[in-house]
Amino acid sequence: MNIILLGPPGAGKGTQAERLVADRGMVQLSTGDMLRAAVKAGTPVGLKAKAVMDAGELVSDEIVSALIGEKLDAIGDKGAIFDGYPRTAAQAASLDALLAARGRKLDHVIELAVDEDALVERITGRFTCANCGAGYHDKFKLPRVPGTCDVCGHHEFKRRPDDNEQTVRTRMAEYRAKTAPILPIYEARGLVSRVDGMADIAEVTRAIEAILDGKG
Ligand code: AP5
Ligand code: MG
Ligand code: ZN
Repeated sequence: MNIILLGPPGAGKGTQAERLVADRGMVQLSTGDMLRAAVKAGTPVGLKAKAVMDAGELVSDEIVSALIGEKLDAIGDKGAIFDGYPRTAAQAASLDALLAARGRKLDHVIELAVDEDALVERITGRFTCANCGAGYHDKFKLPRVPGTCDVCGHHEFKRRPDDNEQTVRTRMAEYRAKTAPILPIYEARGLVSRVDGMADIAEVTRAIEAILDGKG
């Protein structure tokens, strides 16, 4: 099974992908995570992407589609969760080609419907484990033991440089202008299901799993 999680910054794409990975053995393919890894490693892609990401704008279609192609080759026959990709009509076309070349098809596009005003609070409160990347939130998802990662027990956490209010506004404008317009492409193919992304994290997961199980 191959699915896309689609929604604006802070909609919960990464949070839900993490849960589906744990529950179903699928693989999360997040272009944001791949780009942040490239920035950290100082690769040529990372050097190009850093300023664009810090400004909240979109990295080039060629770069992100190449990253996705490499990862798809590495995951064998496991199901893919596309998180933050595709983000433009050109990327949607590239994804079709990448999947077809590997004998894969798209099963579901899950739209996480959210209230944009709430997203700023979600994003500015977000942090992750510096060791394993598990995601947390100052208000909505604190570690069970304060200061200790639930997953790996590590004590250091980090925040993303693009998680400030001004950059978040730009990221939302980019979503509205370039990403939301790809929904009709998938609607025309009958692939889109809409989930209320403002519900509790666990409730959103249940709604997504019902769709994947054909009970949505
Ligand atoms: P990317 O990393 O994809 O960022 P984004 O799309 O802005 O999305 P976020 O990761 O901020 O949000 P999310 O939906 O994953 O929310 P999360 O689950 O963390 O991209 C970053 C940048 O990279 C882009 O701006 C661009 O420059 C570049 N880029 C990436 N992909 C690209 C592409 N394809 N093309 C071009 N450029 C690209 O949740 C947020 C917080 O809320 C968390 O703290 C979480 O705990 C909490 N939370 C989640 N769900 C709930 C809930 N239901 N209730 C309460 N709290 C919740
Ligand atoms: Mg994310
Ligand atoms: Zn951890």
